[in-house]
Amino acid sequence: MADRLKVLLVGIGGYGAGYVMTALGMEDEIEVVGIVDPFADKSPAFDDVEDLPIYNTIDNFFAAGHTAQAAVISTPIQLHCEQFCSALEHNMHVLCEKPLCASPEEAEKMMEAANKHPELKVLIGFQWSFSPAILEAKKQILSGVWGKPLSMRVIVRWPRAFSYYERNDWAGKLKDSKGNFVCDSVLSNATAHYLHNPLFMLGADMQHSAEPSKIEAECFRAYDIETFDTAFVKLTVPNAQGSDTKVFIAVSHACEETVAPTIEYAFEHGRMWCSNDDRLHGELNGELKEFGVIGSNLEGYFNKLTRLCECAQNDAQSPCLAGTALPELETAYYIINNIPVKQFEKKLIEEFTTTSKEKRLKVNGLDAILLESFDKMKLPSELGVAL
Ligand SMILES: NC(=O)c1ccc[n+]([C@@H]2O[C@H](COP(=O)([O-])OP(=O)(O)OC[C@H]3O[C@@H](n4cnc5c(N)ncnc54)[C@H](O)[C@@H]3O)[C@@H](O)[C@H]2O)c1
Repeated sequence: MADRLKVLLVGIGGYGAGYVMTALGMEDEIEVVGIVDPFADKSPAFDDVEDLPIYNTIDNFFAAGHTAQAAVISTPIQLHCEQFCSALEHNMHVLCEKPLCASPEEAEKMMEAANKHPELKVLIGFQWSFSPAILEAKKQILSGVWGKPLSMRVIVRWPRAFSYYERNDWAGKLKDSKGNFVCDSVLSNATAHYLHNPLFMLGADMQHSAEPSKIEAECFRAYDIETFDTAFVKLTVPNAQGSDTKVFIAVSHACEETVAPTIEYAFEHGRMWCSNDDRLHGELNGELKEFGVIGSNLEGYFNKLTRLCECAQNDAQSPCLAGTALPELETAYYIINNIPVKQFEKKLIEEFTTTSKEKRLKVNGLDAILLESFDKMKLPSELGVAL
């Protein structure tokens, strides 16, 4: 028990509630020493932490005489930069949720802060990058056994209800109610993992992600939001093997069906895929290869907190530094700021109530277009479809 990592949880509602459950369950490795969340009592995890010191800011936690060795930040995107820098200033290792932050300028500040504190570990919480299955696959890609990565395609059909966009003051917004830049869209938030992962897999080494040399995208909205709820993205990405990989991503919160993400990565000597089962499968030179469970959901929290402990206590390497997460942020930021968003044709949009009594929108015909687009790796305009 003496060597438990003293952890401060920053943001315990929404996704952060899972960090409370997981960290409290890891009692041999982690001691949760405090909470920073001005709305902590609204969290479903509040009952489990109400006896701990709870503060509105990291500064207030330390000013009251408490200490911690690491911070886990799971707060709105527009707070990541300030809280990440503050955690480092207070000498804490940091596990900060994805995406990195709201803008490349903020990313610059975060990387400067991290460089000022080389003794502290920084981890950005894209859970696929903490998955032993994904890390093994990346190692093998870098070893060259799979040959050149030819193409990578991803489809995510995750409809969201009105309540998703109403849950806070920043969902689907370019700026929050205080004017802070947020840059929240289906691509930069819920499905950011599936933009990050191809770039991560194509990176030049285990801690780098590749940067696209060409970005094309078509973005749409059905919901009354500032950004978009559906995106088709086509990237040209120079890979570690010296060639270009075509990457295609089709994601939506306004489709009809909820389907677990599918990824298909094609190589000169085989292919890797994950479809519906949260496991990474492969076929190399005609032989099946099982990489195992990826850990998108609950295992994701555990993998991230376990690696935080290993980094802080055993000097392990972070699998996702601020710089590793930067190409995802820059790509999503480019798309949000340069690609005009089209409103779906009104006649295609239908409001309905789900069996679980949630009100949501669906765009009729969109699921078929997402599937065709994914299949052919073509943008809707290239398919000649009207949305
Ligand atoms: N890794 C994943 O799979 C995954 C999934 C969902 C969300 N996320 C990420 O988690 C982060 C939080 O997203 P969310 O949907 O839970 O957001 P949210 O707005 O629902 O909740 C964020 C939490 O932060 C708290 N908070 C607000 N202001 C704060 C402040 N100044 N200081 C401390 N806490 C504050 C809120 O009270 C709330 O408890 C985002 O970066 C999001 O992208 C990651």
